[in-house]
Amino acid sequence: MRYGYFDNQNREYVIERPDIPVSWTNYLGVKDMCTVISHNAGGYSFYKTPQYHRITRFRQNGVPLDRPGHYVYLRDDETGDYWSISWQPVGKSLSIAKYVCRHGLSYSKFICDYNNIHAEQWLFIPLDDAVEIWDVRVKNTGISRRKLSIFTYAEFSYHHIEIDNQNLQMSLYASGSSYKDGIIEYDFFYIPDMYHFFASNFEPDSFDCVRDIFIGNYRTETNPIAVEKGMCSNSEDLTGNHCASLHKRFILEPGEEKRFIFMLGVGDRNKGREIKEKYSKFENVDNSFYELKKYWDDKLSVFQCTTPHEGLNTMINIWNLYQAETCVVWSRFASFIEVGGRTGLGYRDTAQDAMSIPHTNPQKCKQRIIELLKAQTSEGYGLHLFEPEWFEEDDTPKPKFKSPTIVPKPKKDSIIHGIEDACSDDALWLIPTISEYIKETGEIEFLDMIIPFADKGQASVYEHMKRIIDFTAKHVGPHGIAKGLRADWNDCLNLGDGESAMVSMLHYWALQSFIEIARYLGKREDVEKYSALAENIKKVCNDVLWDGRWYLRGITANGLKIGSNECEEGKIYLESNAWAVVSGVADYERGISAMDAVYEYLFSKYGLHLLHPPYSKPNDEIGFVTRVYKGIKENGAIFSHANTWAWVAECKLGRGSRAMELYNALLPYNQNDIIEIRESEPYSYCQFVYGKYHKSFGKARHPWLTGTAGWAYHAVTHWILGIRPTFDGLVIDPCIPSNWDKFEVIRKFRGATYKITVHNPNRVEKGVKNITLNGKDLEKNFVSVQPKGSINEVIVVMG
Ligand code: NOJ
Repeated sequence: MRYGYFDNQNREYVIERPDIPVSWTNYLGVKDMCTVISHNAGGYSFYKTPQYHRITRFRQNGVPLDRPGHYVYLRDDETGDYWSISWQPVGKSLSIAKYVCRHGLSYSKFICDYNNIHAEQWLFIPLDDAVEIWDVRVKNTGISRRKLSIFTYAEFSYHHIEIDNQNLQMSLYASGSSYKDGIIEYDFFYIPDMYHFFASNFEPDSFDCVRDIFIGNYRTETNPIAVEKGMCSNSEDLTGNHCASLHKRFILEPGEEKRFIFMLGVGDRNKGREIKEKYSKFENVDNSFYELKKYWDDKLSVFQCTTPHEGLNTMINIWNLYQAETCVVWSRFASFIEVGGRTGLGYRDTAQDAMSIPHTNPQKCKQRIIELLKAQTSEGYGLHLFEPEWFEEDDTPKPKFKSPTIVPKPKKDSIIHGIEDACSDDALWLIPTISEYIKETGEIEFLDMIIPFADKGQASVYEHMKRIIDFTAKHVGPHGIAKGLRADWNDCLNLGDGESAMVSMLHYWALQSFIEIARYLGKREDVEKYSALAENIKKVCNDVLWDGRWYLRGITANGLKIGSNECEEGKIYLESNAWAVVSGVADYERGISAMDAVYEYLFSKYGLHLLHPPYSKPNDEIGFVTRVYKGIKENGAIFSHANTWAWVAECKLGRGSRAMELYNALLPYNQNDIIEIRESEPYSYCQFVYGKYHKSFGKARHPWLTGTAGWAYHAVTHWILGIRPTFDGLVIDPCIPSNWDKFEVIRKFRGATYKITVHNPNRVEKGVKNITLNGKDLEKNFVSVQPKGSINEVIVVMG
């Protein structure tokens, strides 16, 4: 069953049936203000942080789904009939009204045809103003004159999510709303500079600032009393719950269309006036929308591919990059699952996210890398979850009353958790991320930048990297494998002094990146020292972790093997086997054997399970994974993020067809027509898909904010299509399915454009037979950096 389709021409996903089993969301805003919005216009806005500066309210996990939201109601003033432009909240029968939602890149359009009225509500946040624009058009498609009313509705939120949820009295008795000059202002009595506003491009006929007056007792957003009556009550108050409702009556002649602009923004009434003046001019709205489109066009143009695989093209050229950008810009803290009350950066998540988009968002990636380095202790480990603001150098006294955008800054001692709370993998991810950033931008001098440690002292970026490597080298268990500590990438493997195969393999992988940098800088001593360390890790991994057909996942503090054929449960894990290959720890034979075992035990039509068989008996020596239901999350679900490593591993082994088979199984695009199984968005990877050990097998959950986004993008662009930046140019090393005869990529890199055409006349899966640059033969599959502004033709023949 399908609910919509991909419109690649417009870079939109079009939802034709709004009665989807779960909310399909989109993200508006690319800078300071963000709205998470569903296909039914449910959702919430915040400014910089959803924890400390909420703008509108949302009842997470509520019944009915997705309430409240940013709604527009229309009313036929002659009959009293009313509806909303998004299907919900009024929810007209789908047999009499037609609703479409188009989720685009940082905008969503809601379109409704009902009773000879065509209406559209476009929502977006301009690049340079912290305001959400509601661009509404209403057209009479019938033959008689219509008398109509338009009403808006959004519920304001107290700025701190905790206060709204835990100390409601502050919210109820210290916030107020007022109306003047066509602008609703929402304010907080005890914070002088904290306001939100709502305005329109017209003089309203009535308004409501008080939620319960607009909605009415024992009613919901489905049937607000104000809309039913056809008039708001002009309510304002200095207590209670507040909303943004502006109402206007208007007449539409047959064929006539009227356009209304609404603005939901951050700031006081004066700011509201300024914004109202600006966006009351349709041309400014149109220009802002155009600028936003251009912003995304420019980004997407950095990497565009044309392959025989329509789904891959759609995801790589549009949605996968968009999801990866969303993870970097808004981190992992705001969705319909992540309620927004934990706005810190997760060390490992951010370190991985930032690896995926240095080509489209170098500034944000660099910012994230610096934030992570500031949250690294001088011992070398990263603080697992932290607020970047904790490490801001500015120590000027803060206002007595917490200003909304200011995150509380605790004392240093209280934020530096010790090794007992450190995760063994966190900071290791950062090393390849730094390397990717430098390879993309050429900014080698970044390595010299001096950045303070979280606890004490400061050092260059290069030295920070050494500390990360040295930390893992120091914390190994009795077998010489890295200690698992609080957790490794797998949050639910809590090995403490037990040992983690994955971390030793990550260590080896990070070392390869580091040694490459050291070599590039000519630091011979470091190259020698760290190469010796790497060789030793490789040997120990192969001596200790090889189980005969695949690699162990770890060894508990009491010496129990995890991920061994000897185990009754958790016999084989995906992570350690994929990472043995990705890192280079495994030689070819072992790599093939391990990945064949992965395929045999873990593969399913929806992707690879994380382990087999799942745990059924709690065992705290192993960790929380043993206390999760079978087939869910880390206990044997199809954990999407880890699937992407298997694609890379297969490419490293040269098995392009296998890599594609694994890719296809997980690809959301491929599940567009089985939404009765998948349920979640087909344009977003989800964190996990219920595994075959659960009766909901195939159901995807936790969309958008997952490391899958960045890694899937990286795996396809760098390993399947095989276009990888180096310090001096681009390596072109595809690993494709044997049924592909050709593909093309347009890649912008350090100011030049590369039009790459790869031919595969012999239908091989890997290997470049010859390559030309602008008609001249190259010696190897490497194209050096070409002059800025140049357009270069690269022809590759595989074989
Ligand atoms: C989600 C967490 O955000 C991430 O940090 C972790 O690596 C995965 N779950 C796997 O446990």
